[in-house]
Amino acid sequence: MSYYEKESNAIAYIKMAEGYDGRELVKELRQHLEDGSHILEIGMGPGKDLDLLSEYFTVTGTDISEVFLDMYRSNHPDADLMLLDAVTLETDRKFDAIYSNKVLQHLKTDKLIDSIHRQKELLHEDGLVMHAFWKGSGSESFDGLFFQYYSQKDLADLFSPGFEIIKIEVYSEMDMDDSLLVLAKNR
Ligand SMILES: C[S@@+](CC[C@H](N)C(=O)[O-])C[C@H]1O[C@@H](n2cnc3c(N)ncnc32)[C@H](O)[C@@H]1O
Repeated sequence: MSYYEKESNAIAYIKMAEGYDGRELVKELRQHLEDGSHILEIGMGPGKDLDLLSEYFTVTGTDISEVFLDMYRSNHPDADLMLLDAVTLETDRKFDAIYSNKVLQHLKTDKLIDSIHRQKELLHEDGLVMHAFWKGSGSESFDGLFFQYYSQKDLADLFSPGFEIIKIEVYSEMDMDDSLLVLAKNR
């Protein structure tokens, strides 16, 4: 069972994340992606970014936690949602962009590489990826929840074999300069 499949962990996350969302990321994405484009969101969690993205784009929301999907579905019965693991991304649908906000740090780096390969297969030509990570080095686990931290160079090395990097930028979420945003184009 993944960490967020436990309802109490999902509820604790919602409380902890109060006041935070991907508004700035969505604003940035709109500079590079036409309104109406079809986005796959990986690890949507409670769905705050899905709501924001849906103001401009057609969005398919996904998560590995059925708890989060069920919570969102209860308020949005018509939402396009799928239970998907970020590593295997088992769908034959194709997208204009793939987005995640603080999700892919939960994968070990070898699994992130598998995910990046799979994302390339799911994207249309010239499709975009936009992913937010925690900045830092090394890894740690809390309560069985794994976190891998990355530098700008780490992420450039991971994404550049299959993608043209548009930007890898430092930004601040909970602490000063604690986060990294990767924006890259399929090639
Ligand atoms: C820190 S939360 C972020 C949730 C949401 N993106 C947000 O910004 O509030 C991490 C999310 O990633 C999901 N997740 C973790 N591992 C995953 C995996 N292997 N595949 C898909 N989703 C995963 C969790 O279930 C959780 O919803």
